[in-house]
Formats: sequence, structure tokens, C-alpha cells
Amino acid sequence: MERVMIVVGTRPEAIKLCPLIRELKKRGRWEILVCSTGQHRAMLDSAMEAFGVRPDFDLDVMRTGQTLSSATARILKGMDEILAAEKPSLVMVQGDTTTAFAAALSAFHRRIPIGHVEAGLRTYHMDSPFPEEFHREAISLMASYHFAPTVTAKKNLVKEGRRESSIHITGNTVVDALRITLTEGKPMREIPLPRDARLLLFTAHRRENHGAPIRGMLRAIKRLVETCPDVVAVCPLHHNPEVRAAANEILRNVPRIMMIEPPEIVTFHHLLSHAYLVITDSGGIQEEAVALGIPTLVTRFSTERTEGIRAGVLRLAGTDEEGIFALGQRLLDPKSEEYLLMKKPSAVFGDGKASARIADFLEKNL
Ligand code: UD1
Ligand code: UDP
Repeated sequence: MERVMIVVGTRPEAIKLCPLIRELKKRGRWEILVCSTGQHRAMLDSAMEAFGVRPDFDLDVMRTGQTLSSATARILKGMDEILAAEKPSLVMVQGDTTTAFAAALSAFHRRIPIGHVEAGLRTYHMDSPFPEEFHREAISLMASYHFAPTVTAKKNLVKEGRRESSIHITGNTVVDALRITLTEGKPMREIPLPRDARLLLFTAHRRENHGAPIRGMLRAIKRLVETCPDVVAVCPLHHNPEVRAAANEILRNVPRIMMIEPPEIVTFHHLLSHAYLVITDSGGIQEEAVALGIPTLVTRFSTERTEGIRAGVLRLAGTDEEGIFALGQRLLDPKSEEYLLMKKPSAVFGDGKASARIADFLEKNL
């Protein structure tokens, strides 16, 4: 039986690859080996558990406050040893993290074909997101099979010279995940919200936003809550120490702001589906918010999820305190027509069958 190795390392990779792992295992055509780099620990483990997936290998590389190079080096070394021992016929990576890049590079060095899930996302700005734009462009150079979520992503890959026959439009597996969590999943936690409160959900973690940008976002959230008495802000804090320090300094003891440990994915998806407004710099949350039709301010100056902007659900808000506050205040006005125009679900990121399409492709071609 052919061996397919699927590599996960961070929370979003687990969420976007677990539906595929389940689908590939269900088909029974290949021996599926799940390798965790452990680039994240708590946030990865809880996401995997929510889907009932257990890794076969765990490199356990995470260190507090790890640098990009140190994590890359540990993953390269660990992956090389596993690939040498297990000799898979295909290595599947997802997205643009250090795990995806380093695992792809390890496979490339050993001349093992690479399948890239969520291929072709681009801003064409190397510093935003950093270092993810470099990672995903580099993975595209190394991969044999590009699973593009959208037509736009495919066009980017074609423009960069990838062969059309190597690119497959599948939709994004995050919509598959959303289907699973909202239909089969049982939230592990209850987040106690006051009755009739409007929920403002805020997350931030991007490396290029550490420092002044994240502090600007946090101050904007504080002012929005202070000016809208029926709004409660729920802020799941990413484990990154930089993010936690800034949030604790600016949001601590502010009434109607709940800083919470990041809920596992089933709880988080339920929370998201009840949000009035989302403010985030996350990639995955942009896609989920569009699928659910939850108006979202993206605290960045560019996004690779332009389909969500065109669908009208996402708005770029930048990272400047005044800009985020002004736009947020406008949308939180209960009479805002602009808000109502944004509040419509869209299937631009997928229909929940992306994993099945990837599995169909592998059945035909592997
Ligand atoms: C990483 C990815 C980013 C992705 C994000 C998802 C890279 C370069 N960055 O960023 O693309 O959007 O994950 O969340 O791959 N930590 C914990 N426990 C955890 C997770 C993180 O303590 O479960 C802390 C550790 O101190 C760690 C730090 O967070 O050193 C940063 O983690 P890292 O994976 O390097 O970067 P992220 O900012 O999480
Ligand atoms: N998420 C979660 N709990 C949280 C915050 C986010 O399960 O407290 C999920 C979210 O639904 C999405 C993914 O984590 O699927 C996004 O991860 P993150 O924002 O860390 O990374 P990005 O998508 O920006 O790479």
C-alpha cells in the first residue's frame, strides 16, 4: 500500500487537515501517516483532539518564544529522519507556516513528491504576512500537486509558471471543518455572555503586527466597548507571549471585555457563528466568517483572501487605532445599512467538499 504522510504543526493546519485525514483514512486506499511537528503544543493538541485524530509521529519542536530559524532547523532535522525511515510516496502540507515550509523542503531534498493544500494564496508583499508569503511562494516552487482553494489562487499559480495540469481547484478544507464542527461537534466550553449583548469577537497574532500595530488594535477594541454599552468583546488570547503581554496590559479589568484561553475549535466555531462583528488578523477566521456571513474587519493592510472582500463580508481596516475604531463604530451603529450589506454568507471559499475532491484526485493519480 502506498504511504501518504500528512504534516501538521500549528492550530490552523490541524483544523484544515483533519477533515482531509479523516477522508483519506475512510477511503482505505493508502497507509496514512500523520506527522505532527509540534510547532504549537496546546493549541495544536486541542484542535487534533476535537477531530479525533492522533499523530503517528511527534517532533515536539515548540519552545517558548521560538525564533523562525530555530523552529525551521528543528523541523528540518526531525522531518529528514522520519522521511528517511518511513519513505512515503507523497508528503502533504497545508498553507504557509514554518511547519509547511520546512516539511516541504525536507521532502524536496529527499525527492519525495509534495502535495500542497491551500496553494496559490498571495499578497505579493514579502513582509505581509511575514514570513508566510515567502513560505507559500517557496512551497509552490517545490510542490508537484497544487490544491488551490479558489479560481484566484489557481490564476496566481498559472501566472507564476506552474503547469495547469498540476493545479486542482478544490475549495478550502476549512469549510469542511466548519461543517463537521457545527453539525457533529459538541462544544467543550460554555462562554457565559450576558443576554441581549452583541458579541464582538477579537483575535490577533500575526508576527508583522507585534508591537505598535497590535497595541493600536487593542486600544480600538477598548474604545469600541466603552462607547457601545450593549457590546461584549470576547478575546481568545493566542498563546504567543507577545500577544498575551500586550492584551493583558491594555484590556485587563476593562468592563465587558472577556480575555479567555483560546477555546477548542468546536466551541470557537459556535462562538463565531453567534458573533455580531469580528475583528481579526487571522487567515482562517476570515474564511470562516465569510462562509457564515459574519461581518469582519481585517486588521491588516492587505489580504490574500480577496474573494471575501469581493463577497462583501470582509473589510480591510489596517492596524491603526483610529481607523479600526471609526470603522468599528460605524458598523456597530444598530442602524448601519453598511453592516446589513456585509451580513450575508458566501460560498467563495468552498462548499464543504474540498477533502473529497483532493482524495478523488489522489485516487486517480497516485
Ligand atoms: C504560527 C504561524 C502562523 C500561523 C499561526 C497560527 C509561522 C511562522 N507562523 O504563528 O503562520 O498563522 O501559527 O496560530 O509558522 N505558543 C504556545 N503554545 C501553543 C502555540 C504557541 O505556547 O500552543 C507560543 C510559544 O511561545 C511559541 C509562540 O507561541 O514560541 C509562537 O509560536 P509560533 O508557531 O512560532 O508562531 P505563531 O505566532 O503561533
Ligand atoms: N481558532 C480556534 N480557537 C481560537 C481562535 C481560533 O479554534 O480561540 C481557530 C479558528 O476557527 C480558525 C483557526 O483557529 O480555524 C485560525 O487559526 P489562527 O488564527 O491561529 O491562524 P491563521 O488562520 O491566521 O493562520
